[in-house]
Amino acid sequence: MPNVPMKEMLQDAAARGYAVPCFNAINLDMIRGIIQAAEEENSPVILCHAEIHFKYTPLEQIAPIMVAAMNNAKVPVSILLDHGKSFSATMKAMKLGFNAVMFDGSEYNYEDNVQRTAEVVKIAREFDVSVEGELGYVTRPVSGGAEGADDDSIIDDTSYYTDPEQAGEFVERTGVDALAVAFGTVHGVYLKKPNLDIHRLGQIRDNVAVPLVMHGGSGLSEVDFSDSIHQGIAKINYYTNMALKVSDKLREQLIEKQEHVFYHDIMMSTIHEFSEDARQVMRMFGSHQKA
Ligand code: 13P
Repeated sequence: MPNVPMKEMLQDAAARGYAVPCFNAINLDMIRGIIQAAEEENSPVILCHAEIHFKYTPLEQIAPIMVAAMNNAKVPVSILLDHGKSFSATMKAMKLGFNAVMFDGSEYNYEDNVQRTAEVVKIAREFDVSVEGELGYVTRPVSGGAEGADDDSIIDDTSYYTDPEQAGEFVERTGVDALAVAFGTVHGVYLKKPNLDIHRLGQIRDNVAVPLVMHGGSGLSEVDFSDSIHQGIAKINYYTNMALKVSDKLREQLIEKQEHVFYHDIMMSTIHEFSEDARQVMRMFGSHQKA
């Protein structure tokens, strides 16, 4: 049951109308909380580690922990390199046992994105690794606190959104197993009410033969999620809310109990908070009871 190829997981989600949650798990506490939630909710789950987070947790250190978590879980788990920007990071992730990689060539021009993504897919096939590509660009506003932030002025710029026709061609030419698309979501905190271009999403779905991926899942409403899933989203990436909520909870606890606060107690309540948040997300994405 565990160690399920991401490609298969997403095909099942697309066929049965739910989205697999994909959580950035930057340490053992997050991994434990997320796996606990997936087992309690009987949900498939994707654990991921983004290249932008290597500065907090090196890939070499977290990879064996993620592999063990995947192999020992009671539910289907896949582990993914998130936003692999460099060819070397994608190769390293495959060698370290990740069964999925995202190659994010969205900062290149279209032709370069196609060439570089296709090159990763070619190698990934030999290792039986699923590949996610990105076409269009999901922004990271400075004001939203996202790392590697972009100038805020591009948040509402629809020229960064995925072009439906180009999406069909991109998938054919690269051979990716899943496609991350831009249609109004942002990484980090939404400072304005999100206004998703669901019509465009439906057009992309009609042109593309693989499941679609939403980045920037924190801060959207249940209606946004269900509309997006209805129009082809089969995987939703989620991190910001989880990373912020746990700190709020810890702040409350530390203020309440000022003396003799042992780190192991903090660790256990952190795992609990991650798990509760992940459970809620699984129910919202409809992945509960789908393992
Ligand atoms: P959020 O910042 O909305 O949680 O999105 C995370 C993400 O898309 C990581 O790839």
